[in-house]
Amino acid sequence: MSTGSHRMTTSPPGADLPADTVLEVSGVTAGYTPSVPILEEVSLHVGRQELVGIFGPNGAGKSTLLKAVFGLVSVSEGGVRFDGVDITGAPSHELVGRGVGFVPQLDNVFPRLSVRDNLRMGSYLRPKDFGVRWEALAELFPRLVERMRARAGSLSGGERQMLAMARALMPGPRLLCLDEPSAGLSPRAQTEVFALISRINETGTAVLIVEQNARRCLAICDRGYILDQGRNAVTGTGRELLDDPAVVELYLGRLGAGKQADPSPTATVEPRSQSDEPGR
Ligand SMILES: Nc1ncnc2c1ncn2[C@@H]1O[C@H](COP(=O)(O)OP(=O)(O)OP(=O)(O)O)[C@@H](O)[C@H]1O
Ligand SMILES: [Mg+2]
Repeated sequence: MSTGSHRMTTSPPGADLPADTVLEVSGVTAGYTPSVPILEEVSLHVGRQELVGIFGPNGAGKSTLLKAVFGLVSVSEGGVRFDGVDITGAPSHELVGRGVGFVPQLDNVFPRLSVRDNLRMGSYLRPKDFGVRWEALAELFPRLVERMRARAGSLSGGERQMLAMARALMPGPRLLCLDEPSAGLSPRAQTEVFALISRINETGTAVLIVEQNARRCLAICDRGYILDQGRNAVTGTGRELLDDPAVVELYLGRLGAGKQADPSPTATVEPRSQSDEPGR
């Protein structure tokens, strides 16, 4: 397990990272106003087939980090590279075209539009590809197939998260960023959403996910980063983080408080080991 963020900030882009790195956040300082940095020298990377989690207390800067990746907050220092290209500060629509998908925690569907029209919005860059793309994705989303004509606003919370993910997948991103997809869902719906995220990853999309539900999420993650007060605090594999008493006491005790109350199957799933990575 490595701690701290400073190791990568002095290295040139891409140095000492795995060859299959798809996303590299390198020493990023970012915030909503120039004089108040929320993130300070934050670094992380995501491999082409990885599922990587970001955890930490409320206000740690997790959502801000996803927004910095997706061009929604300004980065004053450091940079973001996607597939080897510097995308720091690139507008969101350009990032969608490059292969980055983002599902914010709130307001992530158009409630007055039907499920089908929400999905069409997801393929706005290539409207003619809608049929082919949805055909490729529909198997992952049987519930949406049943509800194509329903208004998105009438869906359950879990179905809405599925729709938001499906919409973000329509352009065929190579990286999907998810902000708290299990928030506010019943234990059963959480189980379905985490299983879906695993399947999305297994079908070849790298995933970067922010979660409060740290224990359950770490069970499906290859690796995780814990942020604290806008800085990297701890980094490790899912197993390393779950097995570290200090991490459990400082970060997972409260964040994982739902575990005892939640008897659903994924709570006991063995974390992935890094040896799972090749050939998944
Ligand atoms: N739009 C905004 N304008 C100004 N400050 C903001 C804005 N959004 C968030 N912040 C501030 O940035 C800091 C980090 O917020 P952020 O939402 O990134 O935290 P988080 O780790 O996602 O927290 P949570 O677990 O509660 O979702 C907080 O102090 C918050 O008040
Ligand atoms: Mg947040």
